[in-house]
Amino acid sequence: MNLPRIMGHRGAAGHAPENTLASFRTAARLGVAWVEFDVHLSTDRVPVLLHDDTLDRTTDGEGAVDAHTADELANLDAGSWFSDSFSGEPVPTLERTLQLLASLGLGANVEIKPSPGRESETGSAVARMLREQWPSALPQPIVSSFKTESLAAARQTAPSIPRALLVRKVAGNWVRDLRELDCFALHCSHKGLSASDAEQVRRSGYPLNLYTVNDRDRSETLLSWGAGTIISDYPDRLM
Ligand code: G3P
Ligand code: MG
Repeated sequence: MNLPRIMGHRGAAGHAPENTLASFRTAARLGVAWVEFDVHLSTDRVPVLLHDDTLDRTTDGEGAVDAHTADELANLDAGSWFSDSFSGEPVPTLERTLQLLASLGLGANVEIKPSPGRESETGSAVARMLREQWPSALPQPIVSSFKTESLAAARQTAPSIPRALLVRKVAGNWVRDLRELDCFALHCSHKGLSASDAEQVRRSGYPLNLYTVNDRDRSETLLSWGAGTIISDYPDRLM
């Protein structure tokens, strides 16, 4: 996999409302080559971009994402909470997002973010859409997830799309999970990560990509420890 050193988190979430089309346009304007974003399923199984399991923090709606249809989600405002200048910014579908990525020339790390109990279903739906609608002019996307069931379902549906396992710490069964799911990389939080954690991953032979790093000195330290890609809300600070 040829990933860039710096990737935009939820688009460029420090500068625009996360996981919106405006955030991807901003990332492209900043010169970012790839973006990360989070995908949930609506109640009628449409992949949509949202981070939380509920609508309350990032939209003018409330309640569980997966208690709403795609039509209901399409009418929400996902921009005003961030700033009035983004008011009316919609909750994008994955389908619409892929069209925009094509026009902006952006690669993507698609994070499968299932609502509780919908791990496999979300992994399959996201992988199916990427398999069928990923713009051929763009570099191949990657999928990632904290949920092994989602990665397993993505693998079954679209085995050729590279997978990364998300973890909060270098601990537990990450090597076993990477092997069993045939993942290409470990994606870990940089918080609390030590040089010896990074060394442990390096010795395993798997690339280590880190989120969410917004400080330039920290980013340089992590790269000196052998990190491959750094995911940032402020990619412009690190590039
Ligand atoms: O994919 C990296 C990062 O986005 C994982 O955590 O909670 O920001 O989706 P979160
Ligand atoms: Mg994410």
